[in-house]
Amino acid sequence: MIELSELTKRYGGKTAVEGLTFAVRPGVVTGFLGPNGAGKSTTMRMILGLDRPTSGDVRIDGKRYDQLPEPLTYIGALLEARSVHPGRTAYHHLLCLAQSNGVPERRIGEVLDLVGLSGVARKRPKGFSLGMGQRLGIASALLGDPKILMFDEPVNGLDPEGIHWIRNLMKQLASDGRTVFVSSHLMSEMALTADHLVVIGQGRLLADTSMARFIEENSRPYVQVRSPDPERLRVSLAGAGLRPVPQPDGGFEVEGVPAARVGEIAAANGLVLHELSRRQASLEEAFMRLTHGSVEYQAREG
Ligand SMILES: Nc1ncnc2c1ncn2[C@@H]1O[C@H](COP(=O)(O)OP(=O)(O)OP(=O)(O)O)[C@@H](O)[C@H]1O
Ligand SMILES: [Mg+2]
Repeated sequence: MIELSELTKRYGGKTAVEGLTFAVRPGVVTGFLGPNGAGKSTTMRMILGLDRPTSGDVRIDGKRYDQLPEPLTYIGALLEARSVHPGRTAYHHLLCLAQSNGVPERRIGEVLDLVGLSGVARKRPKGFSLGMGQRLGIASALLGDPKILMFDEPVNGLDPEGIHWIRNLMKQLASDGRTVFVSSHLMSEMALTADHLVVIGQGRLLADTSMARFIEENSRPYVQVRSPDPERLRVSLAGAGLRPVPQPDGGFEVEGVPAARVGEIAAANGLVLHELSRRQASLEEAFMRLTHGSVEYQAREG
């Protein structure tokens, strides 16, 4: 478990993280979501003891990072900036990490297998593609077989196959009973991976909720319907006690009714339909509403 309590980080006059209090629990994937500059990486660096909090506290299974005897065996992390020594092979890179953390050498083969890099173990990472580099970072995180894993934007720049692989890996790690904390700025990505959701904006906590609840509260279902005779459609639907909301394309959105019912009303009134579909408000929109006002780098619309 990771516990943050009133965690704050200022860089000069700039507050990057402000009064963050939440817990990341084992057995589930917790998504850490926020727009660019929200403070996700800063928070993760503080969890790992790479950045010192201005105030507040972070605990990993009750201890501060610098109190963990062999940290890699407690918490493994993939951070934004990858720091791989360019002259070392993938194997040697992992060996150095293993030796300084009391991890047996045979574990290196296991993690290389797990991330699919066994074939390039003796190659130097400077020739690696983005995806291979990401896999090596994940291998480092898994090396100490830690109970807690943290990934900062792990799918950035990956192809669909790589994204699929990371998603499944995170779910697998969580179902083993581990604590999995993963950041992203894409709600749609989190909806597919995370069971729990922590949202921040400009360093502040905006939401701490289960994914299921977030989806239920934010993705209202509705029916989209369009006819070449929109006015008669509107009157028919309103006559049946529904509230059709006109759309710019001439269609209507209708809430609180099955699509079949809308089709039946249209048929009963002899109306031709060019579209009748069930839709769901996008989670990305809900996320944008939630973080609106706390987006740091915003292009002006116009
Ligand atoms: N070393 C630093 N010195 C000064 N300001 C910093 C430093 N690191 C981060 N910041 C500022 O703190 C804020 C939070 O940055 P952070 O990198 O944690 O955001 P993020 O949520 O990870 O964003 P992104 O999605 O772009 O990765 C930003 O405004 C950033 O400019
Ligand atoms: Mg970041």
